[in-house]
Amino acid sequence: MEIISGKAVSADIRQDIKQDALSFKERFGRAPALAVIIVGDDPASHTYVNNKIKGCAEVGFRSICQKYANGTPQEEIASFIKGLAQDEEVDGILVQLPLPKGYDEKYLLSLIPDSKDVDGFSPTNTGLLSMNRPNTVSCTPLGIMHLLASTGTQLKGKNAVVIGRSNTVGKPMAMLLLNADCTVTVCHSKTKDLSSYTKNADIVVVAIGRAKFLKGEMVKEGAIVIDVGINRVDGKLVGDVDFEEVAPKCSYITPVPGGVGPMTITMLLLNTLNAAIHRLA
Ligand code: GUN
Repeated sequence: MEIISGKAVSADIRQDIKQDALSFKERFGRAPALAVIIVGDDPASHTYVNNKIKGCAEVGFRSICQKYANGTPQEEIASFIKGLAQDEEVDGILVQLPLPKGYDEKYLLSLIPDSKDVDGFSPTNTGLLSMNRPNTVSCTPLGIMHLLASTGTQLKGKNAVVIGRSNTVGKPMAMLLLNADCTVTVCHSKTKDLSSYTKNADIVVVAIGRAKFLKGEMVKEGAIVIDVGINRVDGKLVGDVDFEEVAPKCSYITPVPGGVGPMTITMLLLNTLNAAIHRLA
């Protein structure tokens, strides 16, 4: 059994991004730029946003971080996003989710042009992925593809099970694996006899937000298990996988923390770099 270090894979990719950001700056006279908008005071969301801003600094990007109090009129936020959409010196725009109650997420996200949608959440970017013509792909599933690649495993023909069907992780994950020639099953809260699927899976990706949900008896010997969960239990971070039970059966497994988590922001930086290059080159 080998533990896949998201930290190590992530550090390698960030080195490359840093180099590319330098070349970009030499060629275009400015660094790639990411704008992040956060509304309200959810502590976890603020931690994620701070890490995104730190990530930008680490690879030499310019970042803009706009914080709004819960209760700020939606049109004020909308105007700001529209300004960023027009701004030639902004390459990526990200609205941190979830938004507080009362805000129209669909409307605010619709103001981000596809070319600056570094989260890959827009209907166009989602649709292009499902047609196997990917433009910008959702960061977490994209990071998982890099982690799978780091194991050197041939994905073609593998049975892959994705547990969770969110628009941000489960669905794009399934599409990426399908595009990589896996046979993909998407399981969710209404799936009957989940184990009958997971026991036959060469690759299991769990993204449901339930601490230690995937148990040892549910996985096949030699499986690759990817844990997307970030659950806080008694002040500790715990994944969706019961690591102690599952790890001994795996060929590869991601830990929590230090697995998928570090990759998500790295992919955001990569998507921002690519958006910058596509717009200007
Ligand atoms: N909230 C949790 N994960 C994400 C993400 O990947 N992007 C955005 N915009 N919000 C999030």
